[in-house]
Amino acid sequence: MRLRKSASILIITTFVIGGALFLNEALSEETPESKTSCVQCHEKIMPGQVADWRSSRHFEEDITCSDCHGENHKNEEDANLVTLPDERVCAECHEEQFEQFVKGKHNFGWSSLNAMAVTHVEPDELMEGGGGCGGCHNMGIKTDVQKKELREKGQRYRNNSCDECHTRHSFSKKEALDPRACQQCHMGYDHPQWEMWSSSKHGSRWFTRKDGYLPESSAAPKCQDCHMPEGNHENRTAWGFMGVRLPLPEDPQWAADRVTILKALGVLSPETGKPTKRYETIKALDFVRLTQESWEKEREKMIKTCNKCHSIDFARKQLEMGDSMMKNADRLTADAINMVAGLYADGILTKPDNYLFAYPDFFYFMRTGGGNLEQASHIEQVLFQMYMKHRMRTYQGFFHVNPDYAYWYGWAMMTKDHAEIRENAETMRATYKLN
Ligand code: HEC
Ligand code: HEC
Ligand code: HEC
Ligand code: HEC
Ligand code: HEC
Ligand code: HEC
Ligand code: HEC
Ligand code: HEC
Repeated sequence: MRLRKSASILIITTFVIGGALFLNEALSEETPESKTSCVQCHEKIMPGQVADWRSSRHFEEDITCSDCHGENHKNEEDANLVTLPDERVCAECHEEQFEQFVKGKHNFGWSSLNAMAVTHVEPDELMEGGGGCGGCHNMGIKTDVQKKELREKGQRYRNNSCDECHTRHSFSKKEALDPRACQQCHMGYDHPQWEMWSSSKHGSRWFTRKDGYLPESSAAPKCQDCHMPEGNHENRTAWGFMGVRLPLPEDPQWAADRVTILKALGVLSPETGKPTKRYETIKALDFVRLTQESWEKEREKMIKTCNKCHSIDFARKQLEMGDSMMKNADRLTADAINMVAGLYADGILTKPDNYLFAYPDFFYFMRTGGGNLEQASHIEQVLFQMYMKHRMRTYQGFFHVNPDYAYWYGWAMMTKDHAEIRENAETMRATYKLN
């Protein structure tokens, strides 16, 4: 790399002194045969790919195909010999971003997907093949063991998560700075941050400014301003996705509700109340902040970001109300979990073969029954929806300043789920007695 840079400085100097003709000669002398042949051949067979590369900073910097893909593949017959570069190849020149990325939550996407029980009962096309969960959870550096598993399943691609925000082969910083770079993954069922942000005042201002109706200097925060301040690739929030943390809250009712939720996550044993093996997993994958300090560190960082435009007091109050909505949501959720757990306790629901306990298991997502369609129950699917879709929207909507998501798509739907679970449980009990 260093060699090449000094070579291009030499070329530029030569250019200044000797003119364009000289440059052409210098280039053809400097460039090995294989480097130009990649482009020449690929320009014909996949012009779109090469056009993207030509528009990139890499092209300007003389970083070419073989710098990332190696030189083992030379013609139409031996494409299987090519290197499909992982993040470590990028790290050779971008150590800073790589090191930050490794420390942040994005690095755990693939491992946390694989830690879920549901992943192992769903079609491979949606997981390893990237057509479903795996298309978003490809984010994260895979271990050598994980890569080997993928190859054994016939999956050769998706070895790199750097191209999730600055896509290949433009590898553009501007693209990654646009909130639409986050949209594909941060949308939809259980994490509609895109929908929440884009229809909030923060988002609508950003779009209005983009269309030129507000001056360039006006304040309009986008995802990256709050979650990647100063371009830092280490991302993490205080509560995270799961919205639980340690130590348990001081409020006794809230603490009890949290314990109930942790049992449904299979992190605490419903039988003994003790941590299970899953506790080790969520700890290793940084799912939850395990100390008050690590939670506060992220919270204070966020408040400092809000403070670029709002008063500290305004921002703190806003986030504290979000916390307390989480407490309300936990109350309803725990109550609903207890109703379904009661059906297991009384033998009205029977433990699916794959479940760890005779208790709801959120790690199977919508595949209640542990992937066995005959053992799935509707009431538990409603419970899962309440936890994963509506509970999350209640606080995610609040934190992203979206009143409609927090209320109608979140809290209001939780009360609807609660009523459905209660009525269903009563019916199930009544028909069970009749049989
Ligand atoms: C003579 C033509 C030719 C040359 C020269 C050539 N390639 Fe290819 N390359 C191909 C063809 C054909 C494929 C397979 C395309 C397909 O599957 O549609 C391919 C595939 C690839 C792939 C994708 C591999 C995969 O598994 O999908 C990469 C990356 C690649 N080439 C990079 C390079 C690099 C780097 C060089 C130079 C060192 C190079 N190519 C030189 C023709 C060429
Ligand atoms: C051989 C060195 C080298 C490799 C390997 C390399 N890059 Fe770069 N990259 C550069 C240089 C040089 C620049 C321009 C200076 C800078 O921004 O650091 C650059 C710039 C960038 C930029 C900023 C682009 C912009 O619009 O300003 C991004 C993003 C980027 N690279 C991503 C990647 C990714 C992702 C990989 C791995 C797939 C990668 N790079 C591999 C050398 C490299
Ligand atoms: C549309 C993209 C997308 C799909 C599809 C998707 N996820 Fe996610 N997943 C995400 C995003 C984004 C997050 C982080 C959300 C947040 O923090 O609010 C996430 C978070 C998670 C987490 C929590 C990680 C943590 O540290 O808290 C788990 C576990 C998970 N997903 C598993 C799955 C499983 C299993 C599937 C398929 C059944 C799936 N995801 C489908 C994008 C996706
Ligand atoms: C800065 C690094 C970098 C450079 C330079 C680069 N590539 Fe790639 N390329 C990648 C990455 C990363 C992937 C995705 C690998 C994966 O998913 O496993 C990729 C994938 C590919 C693929 C297969 C996937 C697809 O979309 O078809 C082809 C073909 C390809 N590159 C061709 C080229 C050609 C031709 C050049 C030169 C014009 C080039 N690449 C230059 C990083 C690079
Ligand atoms: C004005 C600042 C701000 C903007 C803009 C913003 N967020 Fe957030 N985000 C927050 C706050 C505050 C939290 C909650 C932090 C906490 O747990 O204390 C949060 C939480 C998250 C989480 C964790 C789960 C959750 O939703 O609570 C994800 C993932 C996330 N944001 C992604 C995004 C994405 C993607 C965008 C853009 C579409 C975005 N955010 C825009 C401030 C922002
Ligand atoms: C979650 C989205 C995302 C992912 C994933 C991501 N980046 Fe970035 N990257 C960004 C954003 C946003 C910026 C612009 C930061 C800024 O300037 O504020 C950026 C900027 C860069 C730059 C240009 C730095 C500069 O200031 O010139 C490089 C180089 C880079 N990223 C490399 C990488 C590498 C290497 C990886 C993989 C380890 C990676 N990125 C993964 C979002 C991402
Ligand atoms: C390819 C999909 C993908 C893209 C693109 C993406 N993310 Fe994520 N993001 C994820 C996944 C998956 C997770 C959960 C990782 C895990 O398992 O811990 C996540 C987690 C996060 C978290 C951490 C939430 C927590 O638990 O604390 C934040 C914040 C976040 N993303 C912000 C962003 C921003 C901002 C962008 C755009 C610049 C972005 N993401 C782009 C998939 C993506
Ligand atoms: C880059 C500047 C900027 C940042 C950073 C920012 N905001 Fe805002 N925010 C605004 C603007 C501008 C408005 C629109 C004000 C209005 O409605 O008159 C707004 C509106 C709001 C509103 C709704 C309007 C109101 O008066 O009640 C809330 C709540 C809010 N922001 C909270 C936050 C929180 C919490 C953070 C940090 C997580 C944050 N903002 C970060 C600029 C910002």
